[in-house]
Amino acid sequence: MNKNSLIITFLVLLNAVSFAQNAARKPMSQLINDEFKFAANQYKFLAKNIPAGKTPQSFQDGKHVNYDIKWWCSGFYSGSLWYIYEQTKDESVKKEAEEALKVIEPNQTFTGNHDLGFMMYCSFGNAFRLTGKPEYKAIIQRSAESLSTRYHANVKAIQSWNKSKYWDYPVIIDNMMNLEMLNWVSDNGGDKKFKEISIIHSNTTIKNHFRPDFSSYHVIDYNAETGTVKRKATWQGAADCSAWSRGQGWALYGYTMMYRFTKDLTYLNQAKGIAHFILNHPNLPADKIPFWDFDAQGVPFAKRDASAGAIMASALLELAQYTDGEEKKEFKNSAETMIYSLASDAYHAKLGENGGYLLMHSTGAYPLNSEIDVPLIYADYYYLEALARYKKWYL
Ligand code: GLY
Repeated sequence: MNKNSLIITFLVLLNAVSFAQNAARKPMSQLINDEFKFAANQYKFLAKNIPAGKTPQSFQDGKHVNYDIKWWCSGFYSGSLWYIYEQTKDESVKKEAEEALKVIEPNQTFTGNHDLGFMMYCSFGNAFRLTGKPEYKAIIQRSAESLSTRYHANVKAIQSWNKSKYWDYPVIIDNMMNLEMLNWVSDNGGDKKFKEISIIHSNTTIKNHFRPDFSSYHVIDYNAETGTVKRKATWQGAADCSAWSRGQGWALYGYTMMYRFTKDLTYLNQAKGIAHFILNHPNLPADKIPFWDFDAQGVPFAKRDASAGAIMASALLELAQYTDGEEKKEFKNSAETMIYSLASDAYHAKLGENGGYLLMHSTGAYPLNSEIDVPLIYADYYYLEALARYKKWYL
């Protein structure tokens, strides 16, 4: 064995040992309770550092990073607060959630990108679910109308980003997530066209985004006139042909969610195939929190992406609801491992640290040298969602 192999073997063993040490886990019911209480307190630190009109994104090099409301992440702060409020009934959290909604409300007429589902459904969707306020529903409906303007029948997909020097009509795998809002609006008294668009988009994405092993390309660039595929590429992944981890998470979540709304077995089978790709991948670490790309250079030293782990955990908990036997066990147990990992000291912040975010070690866009190994608001959101889902479905 040469020196490098020895080091790698040592690190793998170390990972396995520290993982085994974590085996003395607290019961999930207690962990979930503790986590929501912690989150209510931790987010009070986060709330102190958000300038008016902005939404929190990250904490990097000792500085709070807040972005404009048009950034795709603007809905995750209020969404996280609604999840925390749901479990803790802390009225000050609710007040902050309502304030955060007011900040992003103007997004309902925004048509500049495909992210309206992330922005307006994770936020107003949860707010409506918990309060039933008709004004929230109207905002979601208006947002669905805005998002649907980006659908074009020539391509049979919603355009993710605008035409630029890089792309003609780019569609990214992340776009699957925005379909949840469209389905929900159609199923809750809105125009049926939104659900039709989401089904056509999902079918186009199955056709063009996936490889035979169920891994997904990040970006497909289409010819806007003819709808033919011009290029299969990446933006945030390690290479065009690689499996960018968060993208695999979006795909898994997206097709599981499409099955929920349609009961079309094509989507269920797609979700299962994606889950098996992720869970059987030789580069998935023992704690099941992925490296930022399954094909990242430098594995097992590559940076992790806790956000991908949180998204996958939440999605697997739902997918396990739609499966039986060994497969169900595998999906639920894997999600459980991810949750326990994220709750461990390896990823979880201490009270008052990490800028007030819950989780450390996410990676936003490695090739762009942006948001590497940092807290990210959406990692927290999907972690909280996974905890809430676990409580609702498995306790
Ligand atoms: N939707 C953008 C990302 O996942 O980074």
